[in-house]
Amino acid sequence: MKFFLDTANIKEIEEGVSWGCVDGVTTNPTLISKELVGKTDFKTLVKKILTIVEGPVSLEVTSITADGMVEEGKKLKKLGNNVVVKIPTTIEGLKALKVLKSLNIKTNATLVFSVNQALMVAKAGATYASPFVGRLDDISEDGMSLIEDIREAYDNYDFETKILVASVRHPIHVKEAALIGADVATMPFDVFKKLINHPKTEEGLKRFLEDWAKIDKSKLMF
Ligand code: E4P
Repeated sequence: MKFFLDTANIKEIEEGVSWGCVDGVTTNPTLISKELVGKTDFKTLVKKILTIVEGPVSLEVTSITADGMVEEGKKLKKLGNNVVVKIPTTIEGLKALKVLKSLNIKTNATLVFSVNQALMVAKAGATYASPFVGRLDDISEDGMSLIEDIREAYDNYDFETKILVASVRHPIHVKEAALIGADVATMPFDVFKKLINHPKTEEGLKRFLEDWAKIDKSKLMF
């Protein structure tokens, strides 16, 4: 499974990439706007992200018409070869997905909340479909059962669209997504850094180092 960071924060992206476990980045207008306020402009921020990340970087359109989405998508794609154009899951979005596919531009259909939506965006040619698990959990629905259902539906018909689990809120979402066989999980840096933690690892390392500190170092061979 691929891990994407769901952030536009340069420090978080640099840090995550240095760990060797980040396969890509997803952004959305909320995440981008947080980084722009009083700091930098869109193009500078995105160019910086694209120099740090080798893998796919999703950048979302803000137009609501198909023509507008396609025009924006073409401009976004010019910023870097690894740009994936994020398109809302609407009828206009379906039209834009179809056109962008014909132009060989990779797409990420965002705000997917049902199997039927996932099927529609796959048929329209989306490279990724992003079901939002956390936002379903928020309204007492089971986000992860949607991932299971989409996996089954896609596998039934050999759809190539990749399942990108989004709105990940905690490490259990990541583990469950991996066990279901989702292709990608995108997560905030806060969730990403929790994936490596285990109290027994910390306890074990502490004991090893304490025992090592007790020996006479002059007897070491090196
Ligand atoms: C996905 O691409 C979205 O940017 C993201 O996962 C949304 O997460 P949220 O529901 O925590 O805002």
